[in-house]
Amino acid sequence: MDFLTSDKLYGLIQGAYVIAGICFIAALAGLSKHETARRGNQAGIVGMAIALVATILLALREQQLIAEIEELTALVGDDENLGRGVWITLLLILVPIAIGAVIGAQKAKTVEMTGMPELIALLHSFVGLAAVLVGFNTYLAAPQELDAAHGVEIFLGVFIGAVTFTGSIVANLKLSAKMKSAPVVLPARHWLNLAVIVISLVLMIWFMNSAGGSEFIGAVPLIVMTALALFLGFHLVAAIGGGDMPVVVSMLNSYSGWAAAAAGFMLGNNLLIIVGALVGSSGAILSYIMCKAMNRSFVSVIAGGFGSDGGSTGEARDYGEHREVMADEAADILAGASTVVITPGYGMAVAQAQYPVAELTRKLQEKGVEVRFGIHPVAGRLPGHMNVLLAEAKVPYDIVLEMDEINDDLPNTDVVLVIGANDTVNPAAIEEPDSPIAGMPVLEVWNAKEVIIFKRSMATGYAGVQNPLFFKENSRMLFGDAKDRVEAILKALD
Ligand code: TAP
Repeated sequence: MDFLTSDKLYGLIQGAYVIAGICFIAALAGLSKHETARRGNQAGIVGMAIALVATILLALREQQLIAEIEELTALVGDDENLGRGVWITLLLILVPIAIGAVIGAQKAKTVEMTGMPELIALLHSFVGLAAVLVGFNTYLAAPQELDAAHGVEIFLGVFIGAVTFTGSIVANLKLSAKMKSAPVVLPARHWLNLAVIVISLVLMIWFMNSAGGSEFIGAVPLIVMTALALFLGFHLVAAIGGGDMPVVVSMLNSYSGWAAAAAGFMLGNNLLIIVGALVGSSGAILSYIMCKAMNRSFVSVIAGGFGSDGGSTGEARDYGEHREVMADEAADILAGASTVVITPGYGMAVAQAQYPVAELTRKLQEKGVEVRFGIHPVAGRLPGHMNVLLAEAKVPYDIVLEMDEINDDLPNTDVVLVIGANDTVNPAAIEEPDSPIAGMPVLEVWNAKEVIIFKRSMATGYAGVQNPLFFKENSRMLFGDAKDRVEAILKALD
């Protein structure tokens, strides 16, 4: 047991934390490109393994040190008791880790790619809840030791954690369609948010002044603030319309990082502070990029309820009649084209149509047709969702272009195949200022000579907005499951 309390071990733990921190930075760097993403993930796994072992050793060391002090002051028994305390602590750490690992591994194995966003939102909520629990635990363990710096850490940590917790739960419910994706708009909602923040500030002053008062008096402002912050998290995310959810997901990602960093401050754990700050700042950068891609203001995201003024509902309009096309006809159109652009969306992920789509690409290329892909930054339900699917089906990276790179070429394109995309190709974003998705840049596929839209019905997309593209002169609907229809075209091309 002497090794546990030695300075050598402490030095090793701190060294391990530095290595783990470097691994996490390498993970983020790796994840920024397709080619290096796998290596980035591996660096993250190695970093987390090192961090876990080092943190368990640190906890055991602290347990041993406390036990030794207690023994010195003759509070508890003998050497045997000392050793037993360490084993009990080890058991208390390893059993929950084992249970969590089994549940996590099972979930990771069974989750569909389309279910990832809601799973991520749920995981963010755990980080928020953890920050709240750590905050309460830190305060309740020693209320009389509350000083200014510690008080701010606890108060802010619990506040950010509570907002992240309920915000992420609402995001999970919206993404899994258990809650309607349309904004929930309460009267005077911005004033409500402001009131929560102002009251929380007053409660923070009360909390800080509680030091030195009767034992748990600070718990009152802490509990009231927690209730208000839980409401704020719910309200901020509930007020956001479906089409703007991608920004919310990355924003909650950022919040969960700050919640973890706050927990790191409360626990005095440097690695948790580093990891939290990395997640918080990378999430904030991603939110900023998303805001730019969707033409939204970053400040209004944080304020909640952007993208909808509460009055625009995007109610159904009469756009006229749509036209249909059959798979063999579509095959003839494609065979006669010289340039084709494919714009995939969430429906391609649902249908798992990426493999026949990749096969169709190869077949058309063999016939001398130039095929490229146009990817909207929020197509699907995750940043990079479509890129991952296409990479999985071995579509070469150099024909997969971003929306900004392909939009100008669309007027010179013979055929656009819209495979399970809807909101990301909706002209209402440009043509209808009162639309809930107004202002969001979209793939302007209607500028091509012909557009073939693969979907199962005339249903709206995630944002719940009707799509006038389906009724344009040069558009034709190819109804059915996307995978099934692309395979039918492949057969017709043989
Ligand atoms: P969506 O607007 O979600 O539309 C997908 C379309 O796919 C639906 O209209 C659906 O029509 C069709 N579909 C579903 N299953 C299909 C199948 N098996 N075969 C053929 N079609 C199928 O897709 P999008 O254009 O990719 O837009 C993404 C939306 O999600 C945006 O509003 C975005 O803001 C939001 N969002 C994105 C993210 C990120 S980070 N990417 C995160 C959260 C939310 P049918 O039912 O008629 O088949």
